[in-house]
Amino acid sequence: MKPLVAILIMCFMYTQVDVMGMSTEPYPKRNAYATIIYMGTPRDYEFFTAARVLFQSLIKLKTDADLIVIASRTIPQTWIKTLTYEGIIVKVVKDIPNPYAKNPKFERRFIFTLNKIHGWSLTEYERVVMLDVDNVFLRAPDELFQCGEFCAAFINPCIFHTGLFVLKPSNETFFKMLKEVHKKIPNKDGADQGFLTSHFHDLLDRPLFHPPIDGTERLTGLYRLPESYQMDAALYYLNLKWHTPCGLNSAITFPSIPMLKPWFWWSYPILPLGILWHEKRLETIGYHSDIHILIIQVCFYLFCLSVTLFIQRRSPYALVSERSSSTKMCMNRSHFVEQSPCHPIVRKSIIMIILILSYILPFSIVPTTIHPILGWANFLLGSLTFLVITINLFKLNILPVMIPWLEGFGMLLVMFWPYHSSGISRSLIMTTYAFLSSPSLWWCFKKLFISPNGSESWEPLMTRTTSKHDVVTESSKLC
Ligand SMILES: *[C@@H]1O[C@H](CO)[C@@H](O)[C@H](O)[C@H]1NC(C)=O
Repeated sequence: MKPLVAILIMCFMYTQVDVMGMSTEPYPKRNAYATIIYMGTPRDYEFFTAARVLFQSLIKLKTDADLIVIASRTIPQTWIKTLTYEGIIVKVVKDIPNPYAKNPKFERRFIFTLNKIHGWSLTEYERVVMLDVDNVFLRAPDELFQCGEFCAAFINPCIFHTGLFVLKPSNETFFKMLKEVHKKIPNKDGADQGFLTSHFHDLLDRPLFHPPIDGTERLTGLYRLPESYQMDAALYYLNLKWHTPCGLNSAITFPSIPMLKPWFWWSYPILPLGILWHEKRLETIGYHSDIHILIIQVCFYLFCLSVTLFIQRRSPYALVSERSSSTKMCMNRSHFVEQSPCHPIVRKSIIMIILILSYILPFSIVPTTIHPILGWANFLLGSLTFLVITINLFKLNILPVMIPWLEGFGMLLVMFWPYHSSGISRSLIMTTYAFLSSPSLWWCFKKLFISPNGSESWEPLMTRTTSKHDVVTESSKLC
Protein backbone atom coordinates (compact mmCIF):
# COMPACT_ATOMS: atom_id res chain seq x y z
CA MET A 1 0.00 0.00 0.00
CA LYS A 2 2.71 2.43 1.04
CA PRO A 3 4.69 2.26 -2.24
CA LEU A 4 1.47 2.76 -4.17
CA VAL A 5 0.73 5.95 -2.25
CA ALA A 6 4.30 7.06 -2.79
CA ILE A 7 3.99 6.48 -6.54
CA LEU A 8 0.68 8.31 -6.60
CA ILE A 9 2.20 11.24 -4.76
CA MET A 10 5.18 11.16 -7.11
CA CYS A 11 2.87 11.15 -10.16
CA PHE A 12 0.91 14.01 -8.70
CA MET A 13 4.08 15.95 -8.05
CA TYR A 14 5.36 15.28 -11.53
CA THR A 15 2.14 16.40 -13.14
CA GLN A 16 2.24 19.50 -10.95
CA VAL A 17 5.79 20.08 -12.06
CA ASP A 18 4.79 19.55 -15.66
CA VAL A 19 1.93 21.98 -15.37
CA MET A 20 4.18 24.59 -13.94
CA GLY A 21 6.94 23.71 -16.40
CA MET A 22 9.51 23.90 -13.59
CA SER A 23 12.29 21.46 -12.83
CA THR A 24 12.00 18.68 -10.30
CA GLU A 25 14.15 20.27 -7.58
CA PRO A 26 12.17 20.25 -4.32
CA TYR A 27 10.88 23.42 -2.72
CA PRO A 28 11.96 25.78 -1.34
CA LYS A 29 14.08 27.16 -4.15
CA ARG A 30 17.31 28.95 -3.32
CA ASN A 31 16.84 31.78 -5.78
CA ALA A 32 14.05 33.90 -7.09
CA TYR A 33 13.03 36.27 -9.83
CA ALA A 34 11.02 39.15 -8.43
CA THR A 35 9.12 42.15 -9.65
CA ILE A 36 7.03 44.84 -8.00
CA ILE A 37 3.38 45.80 -8.56
CA TYR A 38 1.78 48.83 -6.98
CA MET A 39 -1.25 51.01 -7.56
CA GLY A 40 -1.22 54.68 -8.37
CA THR A 41 0.04 54.84 -11.95
CA PRO A 42 -2.44 55.58 -14.74
CA ARG A 43 -1.67 52.10 -16.13
CA ASP A 44 -1.82 49.68 -13.20
CA TYR A 45 -3.77 46.97 -15.01
CA GLU A 46 -1.30 46.88 -17.91
CA PHE A 47 1.58 46.38 -15.48
CA PHE A 48 -0.28 43.53 -13.81
CA THR A 49 -0.86 41.86 -17.19
CA ALA A 50 2.77 42.42 -18.15
CA ALA A 51 3.94 40.84 -14.87
CA ARG A 52 1.85 37.73 -15.58
CA VAL A 53 3.27 37.40 -19.10
CA LEU A 54 6.80 37.97 -17.79
CA PHE A 55 6.65 35.22 -15.18
CA GLN A 56 4.67 32.74 -17.26
CA SER A 57 7.25 33.09 -20.03
CA LEU A 58 10.03 32.41 -17.50
CA ILE A 59 8.16 29.28 -16.39
CA LYS A 60 7.85 28.25 -20.02
CA LEU A 61 11.60 28.74 -20.43
CA LYS A 62 12.05 26.27 -17.54
CA THR A 63 13.65 28.47 -14.95
CA ASP A 64 14.67 26.84 -11.69
CA ALA A 65 13.74 29.63 -9.31
CA ASP A 66 10.79 30.96 -7.39
CA LEU A 67 8.80 33.76 -8.95
CA ILE A 68 7.81 36.55 -6.62
CA VAL A 69 5.58 39.56 -6.96
CA ILE A 70 6.30 42.18 -4.33
CA ALA A 71 2.81 43.64 -4.18
CA SER A 72 1.77 46.75 -2.38
CA ARG A 73 -1.19 46.41 0.01
CA THR A 74 -3.49 48.35 -2.26
CA ILE A 75 -3.53 45.89 -5.16
CA PRO A 76 -6.90 44.13 -5.73
CA GLN A 77 -7.43 40.72 -4.11
CA THR A 78 -8.48 39.26 -7.49
CA TRP A 79 -5.05 40.08 -8.89
CA ILE A 80 -3.38 38.31 -5.96
CA LYS A 81 -5.63 35.28 -6.53
CA THR A 82 -4.82 35.16 -10.24
CA LEU A 83 -1.08 35.40 -9.60
CA THR A 84 -1.15 32.75 -6.88
CA TYR A 85 -3.19 30.45 -9.11
CA GLU A 86 -0.54 30.83 -11.78
CA GLY A 87 2.21 29.66 -9.43
CA ILE A 88 3.55 33.05 -8.40
CA ILE A 89 4.44 33.85 -4.78
CA VAL A 90 2.86 37.15 -3.77
CA LYS A 91 4.57 39.05 -0.95
CA VAL A 92 2.38 41.87 0.24
CA VAL A 93 4.42 44.79 1.56
CA LYS A 94 3.94 48.28 2.85
CA ASP A 95 4.71 50.92 0.22
CA ILE A 96 8.00 52.72 0.82
CA PRO A 97 7.04 56.41 0.82
CA ASN A 98 8.84 58.30 -1.92
CA PRO A 99 10.44 61.47 -0.52
CA TYR A 100 11.47 62.50 -4.05
CA ALA A 101 7.85 62.77 -5.23
CA LYS A 102 7.86 66.51 -4.62
CA ASN A 103 10.74 67.12 -7.03
CA PRO A 104 9.60 69.28 -9.95
CA LYS A 105 10.44 66.76 -12.70
CA PHE A 106 9.11 63.73 -10.84
CA GLU A 107 7.02 61.35 -12.93
CA ARG A 108 3.90 60.05 -11.21
CA ARG A 109 4.36 56.49 -12.53
CA PHE A 110 7.48 56.15 -10.35
CA ILE A 111 5.61 56.85 -7.14
CA PHE A 112 6.37 53.53 -5.41
CA THR A 113 9.25 52.13 -7.48
CA LEU A 114 11.37 52.29 -4.34
CA ASN A 115 9.42 49.16 -3.30
CA LYS A 116 12.18 47.32 -5.18
CA ILE A 117 14.24 47.79 -2.02
CA HIS A 118 12.02 45.13 -0.44
CA GLY A 119 13.95 42.69 -2.63
CA TRP A 120 16.81 42.88 -0.10
CA SER A 121 14.51 41.66 2.64
CA LEU A 122 13.85 38.32 0.89
CA THR A 123 16.51 36.70 3.06
CA GLU A 124 15.13 33.19 2.54
CA TYR A 125 16.81 33.31 -0.89
CA GLU A 126 20.50 33.37 -1.74
CA ARG A 127 20.08 35.57 -4.79
CA VAL A 128 17.20 37.50 -6.25
CA VAL A 129 17.00 38.83 -9.81
CA MET A 130 14.84 41.93 -9.66
CA LEU A 131 12.95 42.66 -12.88
CA ASP A 132 10.91 45.37 -14.50
CA VAL A 133 7.86 43.99 -16.27
CA ASP A 134 9.04 45.32 -19.64
CA ASN A 135 11.61 42.55 -20.04
CA VAL A 136 11.02 39.97 -22.75
CA PHE A 137 13.06 36.83 -22.10
CA LEU A 138 14.56 34.83 -24.94
CA ARG A 139 16.01 32.30 -22.47
CA ALA A 140 15.97 31.90 -18.69
CA PRO A 141 19.29 33.40 -17.52
CA ASP A 142 19.53 31.34 -14.31
CA GLU A 143 23.33 31.64 -14.27
CA LEU A 144 22.74 35.17 -12.98
CA PHE A 145 22.14 33.63 -9.55
CA GLN A 146 25.87 32.93 -9.44
CA CYS A 147 26.62 36.63 -9.49
CA GLY A 148 27.71 38.66 -6.46
CA GLU A 149 26.04 41.07 -4.02
CA PHE A 150 24.89 43.39 -6.76
CA CYS A 151 25.14 43.12 -10.55
CA ALA A 152 23.55 45.25 -13.26
CA ALA A 153 24.01 46.04 -16.96
CA PHE A 154 25.03 49.36 -18.48
CA ILE A 155 22.59 50.17 -21.28
CA ASN A 156 23.81 53.70 -21.08
CA PRO A 157 27.64 53.75 -21.22
CA CYS A 158 27.87 55.46 -17.81
CA ILE A 159 24.61 54.71 -15.98
CA PHE A 160 23.50 51.18 -15.20
CA HIS A 161 19.91 50.14 -15.81
CA THR A 162 17.71 48.86 -13.00
CA GLY A 163 15.26 46.98 -15.23
CA LEU A 164 17.15 43.79 -14.35
CA PHE A 165 19.67 43.39 -11.56
CA VAL A 166 20.99 40.70 -9.27
CA LEU A 167 20.99 41.25 -5.53
CA LYS A 168 22.02 39.26 -2.49
CA PRO A 169 19.26 39.69 0.11
CA SER A 170 20.45 41.07 3.42
CA ASN A 171 18.53 42.68 6.25
CA GLU A 172 21.48 44.92 6.93
CA THR A 173 21.52 46.36 3.39
CA PHE A 174 17.73 46.59 3.43
CA PHE A 175 17.64 48.79 6.55
CA LYS A 176 20.63 50.81 5.38
CA MET A 177 18.80 51.62 2.14
CA LEU A 178 15.60 52.56 3.95
CA LYS A 179 17.65 55.00 5.99
CA GLU A 180 19.20 56.44 2.84
CA VAL A 181 15.76 56.97 1.30
CA HIS A 182 14.70 58.73 4.45
CA LYS A 183 17.82 60.92 4.32
CA LYS A 184 17.05 61.66 0.64
CA ILE A 185 20.41 60.79 -0.87
CA PRO A 186 20.85 62.30 -4.38
CA ASN A 187 18.41 60.80 -6.87
CA LYS A 188 18.20 62.01 -10.48
CA ASP A 189 14.76 60.70 -11.45
CA GLY A 190 13.20 60.13 -8.03
CA ALA A 191 12.80 56.45 -8.91
CA ASP A 192 14.66 53.21 -8.13
CA GLN A 193 17.02 53.93 -11.03
CA GLY A 194 18.27 57.18 -9.52
CA PHE A 195 18.42 55.74 -6.04
CA LEU A 196 20.37 52.59 -6.89
CA THR A 197 22.84 54.34 -9.20
CA SER A 198 23.48 56.67 -6.29
CA HIS A 199 23.88 53.82 -3.79
CA PHE A 200 26.13 51.67 -6.03
CA HIS A 201 27.93 54.67 -7.50
CA ASP A 202 31.15 52.82 -8.42
CA LEU A 203 29.68 49.89 -10.35
CA LEU A 204 31.29 51.07 -13.58
CA ASP A 205 34.75 50.26 -12.17
CA ARG A 206 33.77 46.72 -11.25
CA PRO A 207 34.71 43.62 -13.30
CA LEU A 208 32.44 42.07 -15.92
CA PHE A 209 30.40 39.07 -14.81
CA HIS A 210 31.38 35.70 -16.29
CA PRO A 211 29.40 32.80 -14.84
CA PRO A 212 31.77 30.35 -13.11
CA ILE A 213 32.06 27.03 -14.97
CA ASP A 214 31.09 25.17 -11.81
CA GLY A 215 27.37 25.90 -11.75
CA THR A 216 27.14 25.86 -7.94
CA GLU A 217 29.85 28.41 -7.31
CA ARG A 218 28.70 31.90 -6.32
CA LEU A 219 30.75 35.03 -6.75
CA THR A 220 31.12 37.75 -4.14
CA GLY A 221 31.38 41.45 -4.81
CA LEU A 222 29.85 43.73 -7.39
CA TYR A 223 29.81 43.06 -11.15
CA ARG A 224 28.76 44.66 -14.39
CA LEU A 225 26.52 42.44 -16.48
CA PRO A 226 27.12 41.94 -20.23
CA GLU A 227 24.61 43.86 -22.34
CA SER A 228 23.11 40.59 -23.61
CA TYR A 229 21.14 40.44 -20.35
CA GLN A 230 19.50 43.80 -21.06
CA MET A 231 19.38 44.37 -24.79
CA ASP A 232 17.92 47.79 -25.34
CA ALA A 233 15.09 47.59 -27.89
CA ALA A 234 16.19 50.99 -29.19
CA LEU A 235 19.39 49.39 -30.56
CA TYR A 236 17.30 47.05 -32.66
CA TYR A 237 15.62 49.84 -34.59
CA LEU A 238 18.80 51.17 -36.15
CA ASN A 239 19.42 48.02 -38.20
CA LEU A 240 16.14 46.19 -37.57
CA LYS A 241 18.23 43.28 -36.32
CA TRP A 242 20.33 42.42 -33.30
CA HIS A 243 24.05 42.82 -32.98
CA THR A 244 24.78 41.65 -29.45
CA PRO A 245 27.50 39.09 -30.02
CA CYS A 246 28.91 39.12 -26.46
CA GLY A 247 27.14 36.60 -24.26
CA LEU A 248 23.93 34.64 -24.76
CA ASN A 249 21.09 36.92 -25.80
CA SER A 250 18.77 36.66 -22.80
CA ALA A 251 16.43 39.58 -22.28
CA ILE A 252 15.20 42.52 -24.32
CA THR A 253 14.14 45.63 -22.43
CA PHE A 254 11.90 48.46 -23.63
CA PRO A 255 12.95 51.46 -21.55
CA SER A 256 11.87 54.19 -24.01
CA ILE A 257 8.61 56.17 -24.22
CA PRO A 258 6.06 54.82 -21.67
CA MET A 259 3.12 55.12 -24.07
CA LEU A 260 4.88 52.83 -26.54
CA LYS A 261 5.55 49.94 -24.16
CA PRO A 262 5.31 46.68 -26.11
CA TRP A 263 2.04 45.56 -24.49
CA PHE A 264 0.00 48.43 -25.95
CA TRP A 265 -1.68 47.35 -29.19
CA TRP A 266 -0.90 50.65 -30.87
CA SER A 267 2.86 50.39 -30.30
CA TYR A 268 3.03 47.81 -33.11
CA PRO A 269 3.79 48.40 -36.00
CA ILE A 270 5.18 51.79 -34.89
CA LEU A 271 7.86 49.89 -32.95
CA PRO A 272 7.79 46.45 -34.61
CA LEU A 273 9.78 44.67 -31.90
CA GLY A 274 6.80 44.88 -29.54
CA ILE A 275 5.31 41.90 -31.37
CA LEU A 276 7.72 39.71 -29.35
CA TRP A 277 5.82 40.57 -26.19
CA HIS A 278 2.55 39.56 -27.86
CA GLU A 279 4.09 36.29 -29.00
CA LYS A 280 4.91 35.66 -25.33
CA ARG A 281 1.40 36.58 -24.26
CA LEU A 282 -0.13 34.34 -26.93
CA GLU A 283 1.86 31.33 -25.72
CA THR A 284 1.27 32.01 -22.00
CA ILE A 285 -1.81 33.74 -20.61
CA GLY A 286 -3.53 34.33 -23.96
CA TYR A 287 -6.12 36.99 -24.68
CA HIS A 288 -9.36 35.51 -23.37
CA SER A 289 -9.61 38.12 -20.59
CA ASP A 290 -9.93 40.88 -23.21
CA ILE A 291 -11.34 39.20 -26.28
CA HIS A 292 -15.02 39.30 -25.29
CA ILE A 293 -14.98 43.12 -25.05
CA LEU A 294 -13.51 43.20 -28.53
CA ILE A 295 -16.19 40.88 -29.91
CA ILE A 296 -18.95 43.04 -28.39
CA GLN A 297 -17.41 46.14 -29.98
CA VAL A 298 -17.09 44.50 -33.39
CA CYS A 299 -20.72 43.36 -33.28
CA PHE A 300 -21.80 46.85 -32.28
CA TYR A 301 -19.89 48.44 -35.16
CA LEU A 302 -21.20 45.95 -37.71
CA PHE A 303 -24.74 46.54 -36.45
CA CYS A 304 -24.41 50.35 -36.70
CA LEU A 305 -22.79 50.07 -40.11
CA SER A 306 -25.52 47.88 -41.55
CA VAL A 307 -28.30 50.03 -40.06
CA THR A 308 -26.73 53.16 -41.52
CA LEU A 309 -26.29 51.63 -44.95
CA PHE A 310 -29.84 50.27 -44.82
CA ILE A 311 -31.30 53.69 -43.93
CA GLN A 312 -29.19 55.32 -46.62
CA ARG A 313 -30.62 52.97 -49.22
CA ARG A 314 -34.21 53.56 -48.17
CA SER A 315 -33.93 57.31 -47.70
CA PRO A 316 -35.38 59.56 -50.45
CA TYR A 317 -32.32 61.77 -50.06
CA ALA A 318 -29.89 58.94 -50.57
CA LEU A 319 -27.09 59.47 -53.04
CA VAL A 320 -28.21 56.57 -55.22
CA SER A 321 -31.70 57.92 -55.75
CA GLU A 322 -30.41 61.40 -56.38
CA ARG A 323 -31.11 62.36 -59.95
CA SER A 324 -31.14 65.88 -61.19
CA SER A 325 -34.91 65.78 -61.28
CA SER A 326 -36.14 69.08 -59.95
CA THR A 327 -38.71 67.69 -57.54
CA LYS A 328 -36.10 65.65 -55.82
CA MET A 329 -33.82 68.62 -55.67
CA CYS A 330 -36.57 70.52 -53.95
CA MET A 331 -37.13 67.76 -51.50
CA ASN A 332 -33.47 67.64 -50.87
CA ARG A 333 -33.30 71.34 -50.28
CA SER A 334 -36.26 71.39 -47.97
CA HIS A 335 -34.59 68.61 -46.05
CA PHE A 336 -31.46 70.69 -45.95
CA VAL A 337 -33.49 73.65 -44.75
CA GLU A 338 -34.89 71.68 -41.86
CA GLN A 339 -31.57 70.32 -40.80
CA SER A 340 -29.16 73.14 -41.26
CA PRO A 341 -28.25 75.16 -38.18
CA CYS A 342 -28.01 78.89 -38.68
CA HIS A 343 -24.37 79.62 -39.16
CA PRO A 344 -22.15 77.54 -41.48
CA ILE A 345 -19.17 78.02 -39.17
CA VAL A 346 -21.04 76.41 -36.32
CA ARG A 347 -22.01 73.55 -38.55
CA LYS A 348 -18.47 73.11 -39.81
CA SER A 349 -17.07 73.14 -36.29
CA ILE A 350 -19.53 70.48 -35.25
CA ILE A 351 -18.58 68.36 -38.23
CA MET A 352 -14.90 68.81 -37.48
CA ILE A 353 -15.33 67.78 -33.84
CA ILE A 354 -17.39 64.75 -34.80
CA LEU A 355 -14.82 63.69 -37.40
CA ILE A 356 -12.03 63.94 -34.83
CA LEU A 357 -14.10 62.02 -32.29
CA SER A 358 -14.72 59.35 -34.95
CA TYR A 359 -11.05 58.47 -34.56
CA ILE A 360 -10.52 59.16 -30.87
CA LEU A 361 -13.54 57.27 -29.59
CA PRO A 362 -12.94 53.88 -31.27
CA PHE A 363 -9.24 54.20 -30.41
CA SER A 364 -9.84 54.75 -26.73
CA ILE A 365 -12.21 51.83 -26.16
CA VAL A 366 -10.03 49.07 -27.62
CA PRO A 367 -8.67 46.93 -24.72
CA THR A 368 -5.17 48.33 -24.27
CA THR A 369 -3.16 45.10 -24.24
CA ILE A 370 -4.99 43.25 -27.01
CA HIS A 371 -2.99 41.79 -29.90
CA PRO A 372 -2.05 44.63 -32.30
CA ILE A 373 -3.62 42.97 -35.34
CA LEU A 374 -6.96 42.71 -33.51
CA GLY A 375 -6.54 46.17 -32.01
CA TRP A 376 -5.91 47.90 -35.31
CA ALA A 377 -8.63 45.94 -37.12
CA ASN A 378 -11.11 46.94 -34.41
CA PHE A 379 -10.02 50.56 -34.51
CA LEU A 380 -10.24 50.75 -38.31
CA LEU A 381 -13.70 49.18 -38.31
CA GLY A 382 -14.84 51.49 -35.51
CA SER A 383 -13.61 54.68 -37.14
CA LEU A 384 -15.03 53.58 -40.50
CA THR A 385 -18.42 53.09 -38.84
CA PHE A 386 -18.37 56.52 -37.24
CA LEU A 387 -17.23 58.17 -40.49
CA VAL A 388 -19.98 56.50 -42.52
CA ILE A 389 -22.57 57.62 -39.96
CA THR A 390 -21.21 61.18 -40.09
CA ILE A 391 -21.26 61.20 -43.90
CA ASN A 392 -24.90 60.18 -43.87
CA LEU A 393 -25.93 62.44 -41.03
CA PHE A 394 -24.49 65.59 -42.56
CA LYS A 395 -24.71 64.56 -46.23
CA LEU A 396 -20.97 65.03 -46.63
CA ASN A 397 -18.88 64.20 -49.66
CA ILE A 398 -17.50 60.70 -49.33
CA LEU A 399 -14.02 61.36 -50.71
CA PRO A 400 -12.71 64.10 -48.39
CA VAL A 401 -13.94 62.15 -45.37
CA MET A 402 -12.58 58.78 -46.41
CA ILE A 403 -9.23 59.76 -47.93
CA PRO A 404 -7.55 60.50 -44.53
CA TRP A 405 -8.78 57.14 -43.22
CA LEU A 406 -7.40 55.33 -46.26
CA GLU A 407 -4.09 57.16 -46.03
CA GLY A 408 -3.80 56.30 -42.34
CA PHE A 409 -4.36 52.67 -43.27
CA GLY A 410 -1.67 53.02 -45.95
CA MET A 411 0.76 54.39 -43.38
CA LEU A 412 0.13 51.33 -41.21
CA LEU A 413 0.96 49.10 -44.17
CA VAL A 414 4.17 51.05 -44.83
CA MET A 415 5.22 50.55 -41.20
CA PHE A 416 4.11 46.93 -41.24
CA TRP A 417 5.98 46.05 -44.46
CA PRO A 418 8.42 43.39 -43.21
CA TYR A 419 11.18 43.89 -45.81
CA HIS A 420 12.64 47.22 -44.71
CA SER A 421 16.42 46.90 -44.87
CA SER A 422 17.15 49.15 -41.88
CA GLY A 423 15.50 51.43 -39.40
CA ILE A 424 16.77 54.52 -41.20
CA SER A 425 15.43 53.55 -44.61
CA ARG A 426 12.15 52.61 -42.92
CA SER A 427 11.77 56.04 -41.38
CA LEU A 428 12.79 57.69 -44.69
CA ILE A 429 10.08 55.76 -46.53
CA MET A 430 7.56 56.73 -43.83
CA THR A 431 8.53 60.38 -44.14
CA THR A 432 8.26 60.24 -47.94
CA TYR A 433 4.82 58.66 -47.67
CA ALA A 434 3.69 61.37 -45.25
CA PHE A 435 5.13 64.04 -47.54
CA LEU A 436 3.42 62.68 -50.63
CA SER A 437 0.07 62.25 -48.92
CA SER A 438 -0.04 65.68 -47.29
CA PRO A 439 -1.39 67.57 -50.38
CA SER A 440 -4.40 65.26 -50.57
CA LEU A 441 -5.00 65.70 -46.83
CA TRP A 442 -4.94 69.43 -47.38
CA TRP A 443 -7.39 69.02 -50.26
CA CYS A 444 -9.76 67.07 -47.97
CA PHE A 445 -9.49 69.67 -45.26
CA LYS A 446 -10.20 72.43 -47.76
CA LYS A 447 -13.17 70.60 -49.25
CA LEU A 448 -14.71 70.02 -45.85
CA PHE A 449 -13.96 73.14 -43.91
CA ILE A 450 -12.80 76.08 -46.01
CA SER A 451 -14.47 75.74 -49.37
CA PRO A 452 -15.27 79.33 -50.49
CA ASN A 453 -19.05 78.91 -50.45
CA GLY A 454 -19.97 77.32 -47.17
CA SER A 455 -22.64 75.12 -48.66
CA GLU A 456 -20.47 73.02 -50.89
CA SER A 457 -19.16 70.76 -48.21
CA TRP A 458 -22.46 69.41 -47.03
CA GLU A 459 -24.05 69.01 -50.42
CA PRO A 460 -23.94 65.44 -51.62
CA LEU A 461 -21.64 64.63 -54.52
CA MET A 462 -24.27 64.41 -57.23
CA THR A 463 -26.19 67.56 -56.50
CA ARG A 464 -23.13 69.69 -57.05
CA THR A 465 -23.51 69.04 -60.76
CA THR A 466 -26.67 71.10 -60.70
CA SER A 467 -26.96 74.78 -60.06
CA LYS A 468 -24.76 75.73 -57.18
CA HIS A 469 -26.04 79.26 -57.25
CA ASP A 470 -29.52 78.28 -56.06
CA VAL A 471 -28.20 76.57 -53.02
CA VAL A 472 -26.05 79.52 -52.10
CA THR A 473 -28.93 81.95 -52.23
CA GLU A 474 -31.00 79.45 -50.34
CA SER A 475 -28.49 79.24 -47.55
CA SER A 476 -27.82 82.94 -47.44
CA LYS A 477 -31.54 83.56 -47.07
CA LEU A 478 -31.53 81.18 -44.21
CA CYS A 479 -28.84 82.70 -42.09
C1 LIG B 1 15.61 39.42 8.31
O1 LIG B 1 14.54 40.02 8.99
C2 LIG B 1 13.33 39.28 8.99
C3 LIG B 1 12.26 40.07 9.69
O2 LIG B 1 12.63 41.37 9.94
C4 LIG B 1 13.53 37.93 9.65
O3 LIG B 1 12.35 37.16 9.59
C5 LIG B 1 14.66 37.21 8.95
O4 LIG B 1 14.96 35.99 9.61
C6 LIG B 1 15.91 38.06 8.92
N1 LIG B 1 16.90 37.37 8.10
C7 LIG B 1 18.13 37.15 8.53
C8 LIG B 1 19.00 36.38 7.61
O5 LIG B 1 18.52 37.53 9.60
